[in-house]
Amino acid sequence: MSTPTVGTEQAALRDAVARALRAPSEHNAQPWRWVLGTDHLDLHVDPTRRLRFTDERGHGVLLGCGAALHHLRVALGDRGWHTDVRHQPEDREGRRPLARVRIRPATEADPWARRHAAAIDQRHTDRRRFSGRSVPTTVLQELDDAARPFGGVLHLAYGGHRAVVADAMREAAERQPLQEGYAAELDHWTHRYAGGHDGIPASARLDGPPPSYRDLVLRWFPRGTLRQPRAGADERDASVLAVLTAVDDSPVSVLRAGEALSAVLLEATAQGLGTTPITQVLEVSETRERVRHLVVGMHRPPVCVLRLGWPEPRSAPLVPTPRRPLAQVLTEAPPP
Ligand SMILES: Cc1cc2nc3c(=O)[nH]c(=O)nc-3n(C[C@H](O)[C@H](O)[C@H](O)COP(=O)(O)O)c2cc1C
Repeated sequence: MSTPTVGTEQAALRDAVARALRAPSEHNAQPWRWVLGTDHLDLHVDPTRRLRFTDERGHGVLLGCGAALHHLRVALGDRGWHTDVRHQPEDREGRRPLARVRIRPATEADPWARRHAAAIDQRHTDRRRFSGRSVPTTVLQELDDAARPFGGVLHLAYGGHRAVVADAMREAAERQPLQEGYAAELDHWTHRYAGGHDGIPASARLDGPPPSYRDLVLRWFPRGTLRQPRAGADERDASVLAVLTAVDDSPVSVLRAGEALSAVLLEATAQGLGTTPITQVLEVSETRERVRHLVVGMHRPPVCVLRLGWPEPRSAPLVPTPRRPLAQVLTEAPPP
């Protein structure tokens, strides 16, 4: 393999940032900012896109940035590049980007990259009822395998554990809207002007009352236009709940859990599953602590709940949510 010039590395990094725009983020706030240097790329939080009231602990921002970092790595792997990532390195000026990425030609193919790269444009958050077809444990095991390289573990919530998570979700859906600032943030990110290229558009929000499936109540978004699929022979939503946990609560662990979240979502999409990431239940301290104590145990913090199911065969294709243009998220570092 020939040695790439700096120019080709920069072009590859730029292309990969463009593909990473499709990463999921809470309220589609896209809280990332990339800075391209001569031989590396830095990822930073965009503090103006934090959800200060909804996501008080700042975990959602780190998860979104981690998901973008994973999308970037997948895009680079798909093009034959190996990525070296340092999380929270200190740069010469004493600043700390969330991560610094360097690339070199890969000597062997990354088995996940092609498959996950193909899933980037197919993945969408689906809040509709899923079909009554159950999700086999072998498939769920593969999702857990995808999370592990990033320190993530997927805990499947069945039986009594599911009841705890479902109860906690219902309680969080009632309590969080009463918290100061929550309603204003929800309003802001669901009523964006078209030029914002962010937020959750009406086409991704369900019409009607707060969606509830069997024992599950999801976060409510106002005045949507997304319709439930037409009733099939079996209307029972057989989706599974899984709780993604991180190594610990440190920013690096939560950032890496965001990479794990992206890996799970892309693997689920590659398998044909529909996915809903859910953090509301972990943003209300009482319900978070209950999920932590009773479902995953005290040694690993839960960072995201996932609803996973087979889309109803009659479901209409989802409309992609907007993303900001590359020029708004990528800048070039001044020469050293
Ligand atoms: C960390 C995180 C938390 C999220 N929490 C929720 C949630 O509680 N409820 C929900 O319906 N969607 C949730 N989402 C999904 C986002 O709203 C979604 O990713 C965003 O609107 C972009 O749409 P897309 O996933 O279809 O690309 C979350 C996503 C992330 C990454």
